[in-house]
Amino acid sequence: MNVRDVRKRYLDFFEKRGHATIPSAPIVPENDPTTLFTSSGMQPLVPYLLGQPHPEGERLVNSQMSFRAEDIEEVGDNRHTTFFEMLGNWSLGDYFKKEQLPWFFEFLTSKEEGLGLSPEKLSVTTFSGDEESGMAADCESVTIWKEIGIPDERIFSYGTKKNWWSRAGVPSKMPAGEIGGPDSEVFYDFGLPHDARFGKECHPNCDCGRFVEIGNSVFMQYVKQADGTFKELPKKNVDFGGGLERLTAATRGNPDIFLIDVFDAARKVLDERSGRAYGTDEATTRSYRIILDHMRAASFMLASGIRSSNTEQGYVLRRLIRRSIREADKLGIKDAVLADVAEGFGASYASAYPFVQSAAQTICEELEKEEGQFRKTLTNGMRELEKMKEDIDAFLLFTTYGFPIELTEEMAKERGVALDMQAVKSKMVEHQALSRAGAAQKFAGGLADHAEQTVRYHTAHHLLLKALQRVLGPEVHQRGSNITSERLRIDFSYGQKMTAEQKAEVEKIVNEKIAEAMPVIRTDMKKEEAEKLGAEREFGATYPDTVSVYSVGPLDNAFSIEFCGGPHVSNTNELGIGGKKFKIQKEEASSAGVRRIKAVLE
Ligand code: SER
Repeated sequence: MNVRDVRKRYLDFFEKRGHATIPSAPIVPENDPTTLFTSSGMQPLVPYLLGQPHPEGERLVNSQMSFRAEDIEEVGDNRHTTFFEMLGNWSLGDYFKKEQLPWFFEFLTSKEEGLGLSPEKLSVTTFSGDEESGMAADCESVTIWKEIGIPDERIFSYGTKKNWWSRAGVPSKMPAGEIGGPDSEVFYDFGLPHDARFGKECHPNCDCGRFVEIGNSVFMQYVKQADGTFKELPKKNVDFGGGLERLTAATRGNPDIFLIDVFDAARKVLDERSGRAYGTDEATTRSYRIILDHMRAASFMLASGIRSSNTEQGYVLRRLIRRSIREADKLGIKDAVLADVAEGFGASYASAYPFVQSAAQTICEELEKEEGQFRKTLTNGMRELEKMKEDIDAFLLFTTYGFPIELTEEMAKERGVALDMQAVKSKMVEHQALSRAGAAQKFAGGLADHAEQTVRYHTAHHLLLKALQRVLGPEVHQRGSNITSERLRIDFSYGQKMTAEQKAEVEKIVNEKIAEAMPVIRTDMKKEEAEKLGAEREFGATYPDTVSVYSVGPLDNAFSIEFCGGPHVSNTNELGIGGKKFKIQKEEASSAGVRRIKAVLE
């Protein structure tokens, strides 16, 4: 079956049993600042599971777009994805275990109404109890599974780590007010030989890949109290969740979810562009899977209005894109490919999520832009990383080449080199504090705040000054500056009005440097050394013996070098995020022999 068939069969099955189909909530939760993404079907329903009446009644069913950022590193095997659709049915204080378990079994096995899976391939797990929280074992579910016909040898019991569900995990991790309960999972046995690397004996929760979880019925009946104890919810609920992609894989008898129909178009693009084929070898397959997963997730995110940035959802999107580029690179694809990979998802989801297809052009443009910028950063960073061999300095790579720390961490891992991430992180904190202190000292009255955009304008200011020197002559120097998150202003020594051509030329140079994705590097050095390098001084400033300078580009081949305390972006391409271009808004006289420019990134 394909994804559309399985989704439809599930919704029809539960509609027939009195459930109202509710639409998928957006991938970015509404009115919930505590979490970045909707990661399960129950998340938008928490108020109703807590007891509030739902307008559609007590029996609900849907297919929910879900994203789990915490699984990003897991992607690469045959069954993990960051984005997935979760099929869900809920009883809000209506039916309970006696109905839920037989219904799900019927859905899985019925040829007419369900998926027609063979009952012999199903194993189930139940909750074995927990002394610490005083929760009893779920014997009732065991009895129900036996009545359904699952033999003892395919009924397993596990503790809180496996058979207790709450968004926060085990009972002890749940914050006050969080809901949870014991659960019963169903696993499909794909019949692969057991891989002994994962333990002596195989069982449903073994990670060797033979058993894949295809559904989880949570008996959502407790809420954690402030004193750490558990209270029964006003009504006992059922919260079922099943991975649509995994269920589809089960109908095909192949555990590899990347072989289901929704990935077909994207896989073909990778075949064509890499000249390889999915499944050729482990490394190739892994790279394909990461790109397929990440580009599907990125398509849904972009279509939902998320844009790449350095914070929150935008940062996760950027990570997905950057990881994909690196994997494409490993496949030997050296030119932009992501927009082509993403193109097919619109059609695959045309009936269930038409907004993805409607956003096709935006998805394409945003991916192209981000890929272009990052490929440049990657080339520079990789070259340096190669030079470092065993002695990898992730901090230097970040501050000097804008090479993301987590990417360095992954690649060091790949080479069997362990990075001291704690040390890297404390260096980062120190670096940021230093930059802030430096900025406070030097830009008192100059830099209005440290908002992301203000920092970008600060870097644009350096680019502008150098561009002015190139166009108007080396005698141009800074006479004053004022930077806010709205614009930058520079006063500079020059006696005449600039011509339109000169202004256009300055803009062109700055925009070229943004497009070149140049690293912005801080170096601490002796004042004389900085003077020897010709670092640009701030007008009227006196400097201590040791100074910090910022260069755009490595010191020995810099576009610009200035005495400066920062803060700055780590790479000029951050100025172009969102397709922004540098523009001179105004050029006017400031005082005798001094001109003033106001400029923006827009
Ligand atoms: N909330 C449970 C899960 O995410 C079942 O829907 O697995």
